Amino acid sequence: MASNIVWHDQTITKQDYREKNGHFSGVIWLTGLSGAGKSTIANIVNQKLFQANVQSYLLDGDNVRHGLNKGLGFSEEDRRENIRRVGEVAKLFVDSGKIVIVAFISPFRADRDRVRESLESNEFLEVFVDCPISECEVRDPKGLYQKARRGEIKSFTGIDSPYEEPLSPEFVLHSDQYDAEQCADQLIELLKEKQWIP
Ligand code: PPS
Repeated sequence: MASNIVWHDQTITKQDYREKNGHFSGVIWLTGLSGAGKSTIANIVNQKLFQANVQSYLLDGDNVRHGLNKGLGFSEEDRRENIRRVGEVAKLFVDSGKIVIVAFISPFRADRDRVRESLESNEFLEVFVDCPISECEVRDPKGLYQKARRGEIKSFTGIDSPYEEPLSPEFVLHSDQYDAEQCADQLIELLKEKQWIP
């Protein structure tokens, strides 16, 4: 940590934003293999929240890697840094009163747990988008599994780079059994149950 820096308390607090918005703020963290459906589901959830006048925002792995995390690759070290940064950004959104939907593979349990620990206990919903790799590989929406199998992409999650499934996620979406719209509806119901939204 750099020296000679001090924390400035702000007059408008997270609680003020929440009261103004009329709903809770927190992180919906979607984790799962490439092709499991994270981005598609996250996008539908964000649309539904927007239509319901909920202040929400979507942070998507592919997109954040075009900007903030442009310089990061897919080594274990870079993936850890990717998740550390997006965890910090997500926390800022929570402080600003928003519901932030995060859709990153986030393959390492310890990294996801670190984000959880950086937030208050009720502010983090880990959602495992559970789809067998055999199904992800059949879908292969970007042709990446084929490339990984041919050895054209190294360190591909599930092929030659690990994916650590959540041990006790708040929710599991079986995206091989339900379509993206149904999965999104399940998440909206979860948000109502948890009283994040009215
Ligand atoms: S991670 O593991 O959380 O840092 O990954 P993330 O930032 O979510 O980026 C995943 C998307 O990057 C593309 N891609 C790869 N994924 C996994 N392994 C390797 N080697 C790789 N190379 C490129 C891929 O399009 C991922 O998008 P999704 O939406 O998950 O399919």
